[in-house]
Amino acid sequence: MKTFKLVSAFSVLAFSTLMMTSVTAASIPEDRIDTLRQAPINVEPTPPAMQAVLNKDIKEMRNYPMQPPVIPHKIDGYQLDLKVNKCMSCHARHRTGDSQAPMVSVTHYMDRDNNFLAELSPRRYFCTQCHVPQLDAKLLVENDFVDMDHLIKANTEQKKH
Ligand code: HEC
Ligand code: HEC
Repeated sequence: MKTFKLVSAFSVLAFSTLMMTSVTAASIPEDRIDTLRQAPINVEPTPPAMQAVLNKDIKEMRNYPMQPPVIPHKIDGYQLDLKVNKCMSCHARHRTGDSQAPMVSVTHYMDRDNNFLAELSPRRYFCTQCHVPQLDAKLLVENDFVDMDHLIKANTEQKKH
């Protein structure tokens, strides 16, 4: 019982801190701090329909050379856990003949000291840490990334003048 009281005392404290934070945050427009939920906290909105993943099988251009390429196919139901890595059943070197998938690059066989391993490096095992399929979705946040090629071009143009 004592612990219960202690716990509730803590939650009251936590709640009041929360209230204080929300008071200070009042000056930020609601749509900026609330982009994903879009409803008051006590309302359970109907979630939007899930969008279909792009499955065009056309590789997307990379925005810079070291970008992990995005996945141009569906990965629904592909098992990726300690026991099975479905991705490697197509992307491993010895499977690419059958699958016609691009081999995971050589960096995926390197450890952090740049030694080459015979097997996929553990730090590259969970593919979806870095590679993700895409949706044809509205941008939640504007992106002002500028491609290096444009920067170089702008720089040479400037030098001409
Ligand atoms: C059934 C075989 C198969 C499986 C399983 C598979 N892929 Fe692929 N993947 C392909 C093929 C084939 C391509 C080439 C483009 C295409 O046809 O979609 C590809 C393309 C890719 C690319 C784009 C490479 C580039 O250079 O642009 C990435 C990234 C990728 N896959 C990641 C994954 C990940 C991560 C998984 C597991 C969640 C996975 N794939 C599972 C067959 C597969
Ligand atoms: C820690 C991040 C990370 C993880 C985890 C990872 N990758 Fe990559 N992957 C990259 C990066 C970065 C590149 C591009 C640069 C390079 O080749 O290293 C890449 C490149 C690729 C390519 C393109 C290869 C080429 O030569 O065009 C494929 C295919 C790929 N990864 C598949 C996979 C699969 C399948 C897995 C899981 C077994 C995986 N990756 C795990 C970061 C990652």
